[in-house]
Amino acid sequence: MTDRTIGYIVGSISSTSINRRLALALQRLAPEGTTLVEIPIKDLPFYSPDFDADYPQVARDFKQAIEDVDGVIIVTPEYSRSVPGVLKNALDWAARPWGQGSFNGKPTAVIGTSGGGIATAAAQQHLKAVLSHYNAPTLGQPEGYVQSTPGLFTETGEVTNDQTAEFLVGYLEAFGALIERYAPVPVAA
Ligand SMILES: Cc1cc2nc3c(=O)[nH]c(=O)nc-3n(C[C@H](O)[C@H](O)[C@H](O)COP(=O)(O)O)c2cc1C
Repeated sequence: MTDRTIGYIVGSISSTSINRRLALALQRLAPEGTTLVEIPIKDLPFYSPDFDADYPQVARDFKQAIEDVDGVIIVTPEYSRSVPGVLKNALDWAARPWGQGSFNGKPTAVIGTSGGGIATAAAQQHLKAVLSHYNAPTLGQPEGYVQSTPGLFTETGEVTNDQTAEFLVGYLEAFGALIERYAPVPVAA
């Protein structure tokens, strides 16, 4: 199997984020040959079209980081039945300048955790609509709805429930297969 690098974006900037813990769990459980690296969003300013002619370095780095990896997992909480504003802001930076969207053709997957019964499902549906608009192939199954219970993930991303760990391993395998399917084919031109 080819080595691959998957970027992950955490849609929460909370210092106690349970979604960050979920991201760390995915990092721990990644199969051999797959490395998960964070693509940070917390230092991005608010996007405005005023920046299109001259993106700040932090936004250039953010776009480049997305373009450099083989796939991107977005690990996000649900805020008010949608995605947190900080995540939407980051996605807007990635989408512009017009015609230079960083997610174009990029394999993506979404996952999230909350204590709620639908475990971020509403936010993930909104996110999938955005990614579809970006022309990013997105993992359909398994759906990443992870209901949190206290202590499910330790601060360093250990998973304390075997079924959840098994689910996350399967989720990463499925995403690996999606990445494989969309891998660029080398051409002699
Ligand atoms: C502004 C706000 C809105 C929220 N809305 C939702 C929601 O719609 N659905 C949900 O399941 N949890 C909601 N929550 C609770 C979050 O799931 C919970 O705070 C979770 O810990 C956030 O993820 P994080 O710890 O990774 O930041 C909301 C929390 C905040 C602060």
